[in-house]
Amino acid sequence: MKITYEEVRSDDAAAFAAFLTGEVWPFHSGGPVDAEAITRKVADGEYNCASVRTHWIVVDGERCGFVKAFDLDDGAPLFDLRIASAHRGRGLGTAAVEWLIVYLFDLLPGSNRIEATTRVDNAAMRAVFRANGFAKEAHYRQAWPGPDGVLYDAVGYAILRQDWLSRTVTPVHWDDELPR
Ligand SMILES: CC(C)(COP(=O)(O)OP(=O)(O)OC[C@H]1O[C@@H](n2cnc3c(N)ncnc32)[C@H](O)[C@@H]1OP(=O)(O)O)[C@@H](O)C(=O)NCCC(=O)NCCS
Repeated sequence: MKITYEEVRSDDAAAFAAFLTGEVWPFHSGGPVDAEAITRKVADGEYNCASVRTHWIVVDGERCGFVKAFDLDDGAPLFDLRIASAHRGRGLGTAAVEWLIVYLFDLLPGSNRIEATTRVDNAAMRAVFRANGFAKEAHYRQAWPGPDGVLYDAVGYAILRQDWLSRTVTPVHWDDELPR
């Protein structure tokens, strides 16, 4: 299996919108994807600019997903990762995040962390974080409105540059309430 990561370019706008609308994304909120708005944004370069970098995940020549890093200009980039349903569970998500860490820490020498959040019941994404040395840093109660009307908890993970370099996961010190 040969995996490459290829920039989503302005002229990919229609293909990118088709990819997003052609799949169901059960763990994302915000309602149905607006194909017209996505097409316009990609065509306008909003998916690859100073603060955003988006790459197709291409497996043996086929576009199987994408990874979009954003907030690149504020020191702690975030990302969204989407694998087409037919290709989930093959290790592509884990491999994409492994690639993204190297890409972002190389692109942003001043950044010391990469962050992401997901819905609490997104077991596959949480496994991807763990496999890549991310630590759970946050638990937001009832913060993620699901398409079914349920308010799910959200969880936040991050990886530190120093942990990535030393292949460790520094645990969060949770028991830190200050004495009165
Ligand atoms: C979440 C997602 C990116 C994971 O990518 P993936 O390629 O399917 O995941 P991988 O094959 O790399 O598997 C990662 C781990 O999740 C586990 N896993 C895969 N599918 C799973 C499932 N449905 N339930 C529980 N665990 C699952 C795998 O066993 C693996 O665990 P391991 O490292 O302990 O072996 C992908 O499933 C996806 O795009 N889902 C829809 C969009 C989404 O939720 N994106 C997350 C946005 S924050």
